[in-house]
Amino acid sequence: MLNSFWNWFVIIISIASILGCWWLLHWTRGVSDREGEEVGSTGHIWDENIRELNAPLPRWWLHLFNITIIFAFLYLLLFPGLGNVPGILGWTQIGQYESERAAATEAQESVYARFRDMDPAALTADAEANEIGHRLFANNCAMCHGSDGRGARSFPNLTDNDWLYGGSFEQVLTSINKGRVGTMPPWGAVLGEDGVSEVVAYVQQLAGQEVDAQLAEAGQARYATICIACHGMDGTGNQALGAPNLSNNIWLYGGDAASIAESVNMGRAGKMPAHENLLNEDRRRLLAAYVTGLSERQ
Ligand code: HEC
Ligand code: HEC
Repeated sequence: MLNSFWNWFVIIISIASILGCWWLLHWTRGVSDREGEEVGSTGHIWDENIRELNAPLPRWWLHLFNITIIFAFLYLLLFPGLGNVPGILGWTQIGQYESERAAATEAQESVYARFRDMDPAALTADAEANEIGHRLFANNCAMCHGSDGRGARSFPNLTDNDWLYGGSFEQVLTSINKGRVGTMPPWGAVLGEDGVSEVVAYVQQLAGQEVDAQLAEAGQARYATICIACHGMDGTGNQALGAPNLSNNIWLYGGDAASIAESVNMGRAGKMPAHENLLNEDRRRLLAAYVTGLSERQ
């Protein structure tokens, strides 16, 4: 809101300029009332015979101007415009925004209500639910997981059946609601350079890649003392910790020796943001159903 100086400043300038226009209009209408009389010449002549006349405004034109002036006063009476004067309709930008929002929520309510008592399997199978899920995914998830959900380096692919935290409806919903932080501690200092190469060879072997058997064997012992706690004896990972399966040759950060060595040396900390406060429950359920559907449809 304006303080009282600017309030009066705006009121006075607005009214004075409208009245000024009115005055200007009537002062300059010249001889328009004196119908039938010769139109006066201003005395300016160019190229010998082109004379500038002081012709009056046509009546209809004048009345149009009068109407705009009346319109301006009516407008300022009905709507806010004169400083802090609210206008007799009580219209505000915020009021309009809120009523439009309420109307949109109401319109959406009828769409979402249908999905509320559907179970996850029915949701995943429902074409309309999937379409809405797809749109929500494009707006909220695609920037990290890709528009097709196939992810990218450090952003998991959601269309395969390899899950860090589990691919059931409930597990996916928890990932969406609470977010996830995968914590892989750095082991470079503990293992040393040779230790890292050994354990990397063993991880590659777990994934079925060709490696130096001797190096991998040395790595196995190290794996068994450190890595087993999270990635499991056979390297299949642990969904409670978000520790990836290392044995299926599907990689979040890359499966070549250099990328694996970087994971082991520096550790990794992938972060999926919580969406509990960003999207309402209806939307999060539709997203979870859409995401579980992605891998089922593969
Ligand atoms: C405290 C549990 C924990 C331990 C111990 C641990 N890891 Fe991890 N590891 C994780 C988690 C969690 C991730 C996933 C990180 C993420 O999501 O950003 C991970 C990721 C990785 C990755 C990346 C996988 C990919 O798909 O790109 C590799 C490789 C890896 N760990 C190897 C090892 C090796 C080798 C050891 C033993 C030296 C080890 N980890 C010990 C928890 C652990
Ligand atoms: C800012 C980037 C970002 C956004 C936005 C994002 N995610 Fe994620 N998401 C991640 C990362 C990174 C991970 C992996 C976390 C880890 O390494 O532990 C992840 C993990 C997940 C997982 C677990 C995958 C698994 O294998 O268990 C699911 C499910 C998921 N996201 C779904 C979604 C959905 C649905 C949305 C949209 C509402 C979304 N994500 C938005 C970055 C993001």
